[in-house]
Amino acid sequence: MVNVVVTGGAGFLGSRLARVLLAAGSLAVAGGAARPLSRVTLIDRVPVPPDLAADRRVGVIHGELAGLLDPGAAGPGAGAGSPGAGAGGPGVRDALAGAEVIFHLAAAVSGECEADFDLGMRANLRSTEALLAACRALGTRPVVVFASSLAVFGASAEHPLPAVVDDHTLPNPQTSYGTQKLIGERLLADYTRKGFLDGRAVRLMTVVVRPGRPNAAASGFLSSIIREPLNGQRATCPVSPDTEVALASPGKAIDALLCAAVSSSQTWGGRSAVTMPALTVTVADMAAALRRVAGPQADALIDWVPDPAVAAMVRTWPGRIRSDRAARMGLIPDQDFESVIRMHLAESSS
Ligand SMILES: NC(=O)c1ccc[n+]([C@@H]2O[C@H](COP(=O)([O-])OP(=O)(O)OC[C@H]3O[C@@H](n4cnc5c(N)ncnc54)[C@H](O)[C@@H]3O)[C@@H](O)[C@H]2O)c1
Repeated sequence: MVNVVVTGGAGFLGSRLARVLLAAGSLAVAGGAARPLSRVTLIDRVPVPPDLAADRRVGVIHGELAGLLDPGAAGPGAGAGSPGAGAGGPGVRDALAGAEVIFHLAAAVSGECEADFDLGMRANLRSTEALLAACRALGTRPVVVFASSLAVFGASAEHPLPAVVDDHTLPNPQTSYGTQKLIGERLLADYTRKGFLDGRAVRLMTVVVRPGRPNAAASGFLSSIIREPLNGQRATCPVSPDTEVALASPGKAIDALLCAAVSSSQTWGGRSAVTMPALTVTVADMAAALRRVAGPQADALIDWVPDPAVAAMVRTWPGRIRSDRAARMGLIPDQDFESVIRMHLAESSS
């Protein structure tokens, strides 16, 4: 039997990952044989979706991660959780102690971290540190999959981005969020080197189309310009149409996280983070795909209103990715952007 913990389990990717795990019903951990999944514990500061809460294999721990793990670390009020999951209480420790795989997805998004430096440090850096320390204390050497981001890369005057980012490109984050993700990657690698756990960091691309309401991610417009017009609503694109972006569908992001959990150490191939494959498109390509899928009235709902601050941030992100390590593990990019939109439509109508 396999137990799994997902931090950020109520979020976009965390809840999706939980559904995929539960539907599969088994997991082959780190190159071993597939075994039945007995428990998926979701840790989040917001309530988990009702379908997951209703599954008898799902456990829920409600609270702020750093506060749950170490009540002194996250400041007053942090760690308040649901009954039975008290701050620093046995709920979290028991869930981690019984878990062979811990997917660490809880994080504040890029825009939030730029707007509130302390939030980013608490939610992204201290939570990660506290989680790794808790895993070390278990002595069980769990597999820890860390959701990193292409935001670890960035262009600066003294260190411009190469035309194509590959497995050897030096990270050079240009945001607090990217910096926190890079520190998380490096901490995970060092805990792995010391034998405290088996860490696998995956650099996810910008995942589109994100369902639901807009979030505070700087990349949020890349989902809004598709999702809102499909709902008959206007959306604003703050960058020029020729801006290149590196994207992945939600399904491909989940494939990458699962690949990290199931690969043997030899196949995973080292302690450094794996950059997942990307579909490179311009924002104009995205609008054209929307027109082909939903007609000219849909892309007419995009307002092209440049925002110099957002455009400057987006310009520091890599658009073209070559991910040989991920490709060797069978991870492939989305075929084209039209199919990404069609997947989103199919899921939103089901
Ligand atoms: N979605 C993307 O485009 C993308 C791209 C690159 C990397 N990532 C990374 O993947 C992970 C999941 O992303 P997502 O899109 O599902 O984000 P999300 O915002 O939808 O979900 C994150 C969840 O974590 C929870 N959370 C945040 N901080 C917490 C804390 N300190 N304690 C407890 N819960 C906390 C939030 O309540 C939320 O439910 C994140 O680490 C994110 O940085 C996402």
